[in-house]
Amino acid sequence: MAVDLLLGLQWGDEGKGKIVDVLTKNYDIIARFQGGPNAGHTLEFDGIKHVLHTIPSGIFHKNSMNIVGNGVVIDPVIFKKELEALNKYDIDIKSKLLISRKAHLILPTHRLLDAASETAKGKAKIGSTLKGIGPTYMDKTGRNGMRIGDLELSDWKEKYRALANKHEAMIGFYNVDIQYDLKELEAEFFDSINTLKVLSFIDSEEYLYQAQKEGKKILAEGAQGSLLDIDFGTYPYVTSSNTTAAGACTGLGIAPNQIGEVKGIFKAYTTRVGSGPFPTELFDKDGETMGRVGNEFGATTGRPRRCGWLDLVALKYAVQVNGVTELMMMKGDVLSGFKKLKICTAYNYKGKTISHLPYNIEAENVAPIYTEMKGWSQDLTKMTKAVELPNELNAYIDFLEKELEVPIKIVSVGPDRTQTIHR
Ligand code: IMP
Repeated sequence: MAVDLLLGLQWGDEGKGKIVDVLTKNYDIIARFQGGPNAGHTLEFDGIKHVLHTIPSGIFHKNSMNIVGNGVVIDPVIFKKELEALNKYDIDIKSKLLISRKAHLILPTHRLLDAASETAKGKAKIGSTLKGIGPTYMDKTGRNGMRIGDLELSDWKEKYRALANKHEAMIGFYNVDIQYDLKELEAEFFDSINTLKVLSFIDSEEYLYQAQKEGKKILAEGAQGSLLDIDFGTYPYVTSSNTTAAGACTGLGIAPNQIGEVKGIFKAYTTRVGSGPFPTELFDKDGETMGRVGNEFGATTGRPRRCGWLDLVALKYAVQVNGVTELMMMKGDVLSGFKKLKICTAYNYKGKTISHLPYNIEAENVAPIYTEMKGWSQDLTKMTKAVELPNELNAYIDFLEKELEVPIKIVSVGPDRTQTIHR
């Protein structure tokens, strides 16, 4: 049985949590393959809003198993808080959540290093969520990291000490003013590790291989978005993992020929949180309206998101790099009320019209070229069927499907599970 993927196609915050939650009933296993608590996957049902950072979005469904894969980086402190937030629900966490032994641990000093690195960058800062993601992946690829499986060994605290000491020396090297009390941070960290240890640590690649052989349906859940991919994103303003389809292979141990559907999620417009180029960014009333109506604030950091028109050049690139087979358009409801909608279909790049994403999309090189479409005024949030959608929205969708050559199977018209239109 092939493994399906679900990925964000823009700069993250596309609404992956909601869609995984909607789709979970079709899957036996939901597996996160990269990123860490920099992610904030929001799910809303029965009038309650839930934000998950590391735990896969299938956790609320009775019959699904949830795996945190080897490609994920885990902060035990945040993980503990996530588990505590789930305590009030009737979820048998111990039997529904498994963690890969090969996933890497975020240490308190990784977070401090993140802060030191960002501070030292000054104006050139990435706008990191400061969750220690970059330094943890650096230790992973530098072959210095600590993994979940290390916690099963008797000498893990010595390993921890050696790495933390090295980090402290590195923080000194940055020569910036970072205030911290490591003793306090460590007490919290060790306490959280005890909580983490209550869960089962597994060889998740083996588990998933056997599950596939048994015909179990698996959905690999991505975090962040394609334009934040360490290789294909807007480097260096990216995260430190492969957020694109290939990341699911390395982050779970799934062979490339075992990938089935690639479900790509995008917003009907574009947002970005943190620094970095954003060709269609708006600084006017339209951008302000998108942010306000779309409640565009980071689920992890609370930062306001930058907003702009849909960038089809960037979206095409993401569809191409991921081999997307099905699209899901989120937040269609937020565009209700705009008289005219714009879609960026090409860039003016250093005086030439181009329709692909160039190496450098900084504002001084790239100006968006727009196609205008008619807007709609109807409130979509109570609509439940595709036939109810306004003609102008159908024209918007048809245009995108034609350009992207991939069908749009879901149109989301609100944050709740029920506000989902299947086409
Ligand atoms: P980091 O991964 O926390 O170091 O952040 C690097 C960049 O990716 C920053 O611009 C963040 O705002 C952005 N980023 C990281 N995680 C997310 C996410 O889940 N959604 C949106 N942006 C993210």
